[in-house]
Amino acid sequence: MTKTILITGASTGIGKETALYFADKGWNVSATMRTMAKGAGLLKYKNIRVFQLDVMDTSSIQQAIQDTIAAFGAIDVLFNNAGYALVGAFEAMTQEQIKKQFDTNVFGVMNVTKAILPYFREKKNGTIITTSSMGGLITFPLYSVYHSTKWAVEGFMESLQYELKPFNIKVKNIEPGAIKTEFGNSLDFVTADAYKNYVPRVHQNMLDSYESAPGADVVAKEVYKAANDSSFRLRYTASFQSTALLFIRRIIPNNWFFGIIRSATEKGIK
Ligand SMILES: NC(=O)c1ccc[n+]([C@@H]2O[C@H](COP(=O)([O-])OP(=O)(O)OC[C@H]3O[C@@H](n4cnc5c(N)ncnc54)[C@H](OP(=O)(O)O)[C@@H]3O)[C@@H](O)[C@H]2O)c1
Repeated sequence: MTKTILITGASTGIGKETALYFADKGWNVSATMRTMAKGAGLLKYKNIRVFQLDVMDTSSIQQAIQDTIAAFGAIDVLFNNAGYALVGAFEAMTQEQIKKQFDTNVFGVMNVTKAILPYFREKKNGTIITTSSMGGLITFPLYSVYHSTKWAVEGFMESLQYELKPFNIKVKNIEPGAIKTEFGNSLDFVTADAYKNYVPRVHQNMLDSYESAPGADVVAKEVYKAANDSSFRLRYTASFQSTALLFIRRIIPNNWFFGIIRSATEKGIK
């Protein structure tokens, strides 16, 4: 029987690429997004349907789940992917900016997961895959709040896996390294005069690293592998950078690791 995946944040980047990859493999795809017009290019695929879903709007989540089941008969995999990054000097970030970052990256993931759970629990089958990040297990400068959302997602999903296993619900986190998508363009960037010798230079160094980053297909393939993995494995790295850095973090002392991150990101700072 043809399987169905519901993807959040499928308008661009990793979400869109994953929608196309799964459709190409013969899956039914519910490509959900905040702005339906952004899904126009996906409508030509007969096994992709586009539905409106904002991860901060619980009624849109319920509606998209119902519409997906009505269209395809079932949902087998939820892919929590929507997200963005608040970046810069923490001191200068407003409460509103910090709240929006958590509302999207953490409470958004919880909202969609909570909405699908009764359905997966009753059918005693389902897989919840979430785009975390290598930044859910390690950190870089200027991304303190973004990292705290991804570390929250890692802790949330790592704990959740225990209570869901008796219902045969699998929990899987994808940890990409830097990936060339709209991510770099959608950053909410904040700085302040007191940080003028640090923030702009480090921010530029971080942005430069996206230029040589792999495309979203690297992540889509890993999501596909996770979706078809019948084991209860929790974590999947995506990209060489992520696999290498997470390995190095595990085997060397913290201070050495922080030194590597400093030399890579603080180039040009006197
Ligand atoms: N690119 C990287 O280097 C990288 C690395 C590690 C992890 N990630 C993670 O990968 C995920 C996807 O990012 P991406 O790289 O593909 O960036 P992207 O191209 O900017 O895509 C982000 C997607 O999230 C959607 N989104 C944002 N807020 C939303 C909300 N409230 N409700 C529903 N959708 C929302 C965006 O929709 P709109 O089009 O409406 O804005 C867009 O579809 C994110 O969780 C990100 O943290 C990215």
